Amino acid sequence: MTRTAVYPGSFDPVTLGHTDLIERSLAFVDRVIVAVAVNASKQPLFTKDERVALLNKAVTHPAVEVQAFDGLLVEFAKRVGATVIVRGLRAVSDFEYEFQMALMNRQLQPGIETVFLVPAFDLTYLSSSLVREVARFGGDVSQLVHPATVEALKLKFRR
Ligand code: PNS
Repeated sequence: MTRTAVYPGSFDPVTLGHTDLIERSLAFVDRVIVAVAVNASKQPLFTKDERVALLNKAVTHPAVEVQAFDGLLVEFAKRVGATVIVRGLRAVSDFEYEFQMALMNRQLQPGIETVFLVPAFDLTYLSSSLVREVARFGGDVSQLVHPATVEALKLKFRR
């Protein structure tokens, strides 16, 4: 039996924190589908297609697939045959929101379990929003994201 996880998020843009969690997920599932949310409430910097393309450049493992999704995450997870939702927990501040989402997703779809993973120590305080902020003002993000994302950020902010 193939065990599939979905790893959902905005990925605006994908960071080394995200790719670290994807690699960690492969320790307990056979396949990871990175699910790029189209309808995230935030106004993204990168379009859906740009976010998917950057993920595909950052993750080349054959057991990982990137797909965009619209609507409810649990519906998407059911459609692709996933039984696990993977989320990262970085700090206590993540906990409340993540706990609410996990409980709501279980309420909506009891057969799917949310699993929280702890990121690598040096990536714990990394977030897409911080990367966007630093890149916007010309700071160096090359230690935090894939080289393709560094270039994409430079193009976005025309630096
Ligand atoms: O990276 P993010 O922005 O924290 O990811 C949040 C995301 C996309 C995982 C969440 O907003 C989501 O699952 N959106 C899809 C719509 C949905 O299912 N909402 C109910 C969640 S309880």
